[in-house]
Amino acid sequence: MTEPILSAEQLLARFQALDVFLVRHQALWRPKPFVQLQLPWERELPQLAAWLRARTLQQAEASHGRPWELDAPAPFAELATQAKALAALGELPQTAIDARPARLAVDIPGRKLQQIQAFASRLQFATPAGHWLDWCAGKGHLGRWLAHEGQRLTCLEYDPALVASGAALSHRQGLDARHLQQDVLAASAAGHLLAEHTPVALHACGDLHVRLLQLASARGCRQLAVAPCCYNRIATPHYQPLSTAAQGSSLQLSRDDLGLPLSETVTAGARVRRQRDQSMAWRLAFDLLQRQLRGVDQYLPTPPLAADWLAKPFARFCHDLAALRGVPTPGAQDWAELEARGWQRLAEVRNLELLRHLFRRPLELWLLLDRALYLQEQGYAVRLGSFCDYRLSPRNLLLLAERA
Ligand SMILES: C[S@@+](CC[C@H](N)C(=O)[O-])C[C@H]1O[C@@H](n2cnc3c(N)ncnc32)[C@H](O)[C@@H]1O
Repeated sequence: MTEPILSAEQLLARFQALDVFLVRHQALWRPKPFVQLQLPWERELPQLAAWLRARTLQQAEASHGRPWELDAPAPFAELATQAKALAALGELPQTAIDARPARLAVDIPGRKLQQIQAFASRLQFATPAGHWLDWCAGKGHLGRWLAHEGQRLTCLEYDPALVASGAALSHRQGLDARHLQQDVLAASAAGHLLAEHTPVALHACGDLHVRLLQLASARGCRQLAVAPCCYNRIATPHYQPLSTAAQGSSLQLSRDDLGLPLSETVTAGARVRRQRDQSMAWRLAFDLLQRQLRGVDQYLPTPPLAADWLAKPFARFCHDLAALRGVPTPGAQDWAELEARGWQRLAEVRNLELLRHLFRRPLELWLLLDRALYLQEQGYAVRLGSFCDYRLSPRNLLLLAERA
């Protein structure tokens, strides 16, 4: 990517442009084709709807991740161009970092290692970090990678097994790191954040990284680096904007809406994709059945199911799911026909979703800019950009903040 990193003034301008775009077109990206048989926008844009519905599952799969390439009826191309321009964000500049001992890489799974190396190579602060604080550290791989030549390291993590493994790994590497079991949302977390810390968070979910931004600025940390993920993992039913600009927006985001940026599955292998497709086609078929059995034309959520559910015959799957959800027992059905309708619906859903997907990155950037603007209000200079290719991780945006 060659787009420039956004300057301080551009942060607000871009946020406002994204806000206008997302508010104006919310009727297109909010409704979920998976839960609605007919989407309200289809009445306004019948040509586009019919074109998308006529495509196959394979065609949808081929367009996944690059919906803007579709030659679909208006206003698709125009929306795609706007979405792409508004979501454009450059790579953060890379710095050469000292080689790390080979033993450090041994325990880190391949993809995670590449993410950590990419993250570390983008950290540029005027004052070198003296004490890294790895926030929601897991086993602390990122912190260990960063802490070298006498830099100190504290890792906060609430899963005791990960804390113990992390401590054992640090010990084996001869690193004097502190691995603390800590719920970062608990009041006691504030005591573990000191002004001299440089907090880093790689893929800390919704509330967890927001808490870091709030505590780090309140505790007076000079600098921090955060790559957010799972914006929808929040305790409240609706998103709580952080910055003045986002608080002034009319956009009200539900947890469901916040899941939109996460709906890209670049990392799934072929077997996982096949299983996911079958699970969705069967659920969509069951959805048609339950509407008929209950006599209520409304989607009924179904819980996550163990993989062996998909090994059952389709009729058994429907019977068991009906029992689980308290739906009347299905009588005689044409199961083959119903299953085929589920697969047909899946093809339509996946293709209709391509329109929603144009708004995925704009919404993610809106959320990231809310964080950036909040930190700016707290006196930080903020840089924003990607730190790795999206195929390595779709959550590839990094926020660097530094106080003078
Ligand atoms: C997606 S993982 C990222 C881990 C690590 N940063 C990495 O990149 O490998 C999120 C981590 O947050 C931890 N976590 C979840 N809720 C937490 C909480 N309330 N307090 C502290 N850690 C938490 C999880 O156990 C998990 O290790």
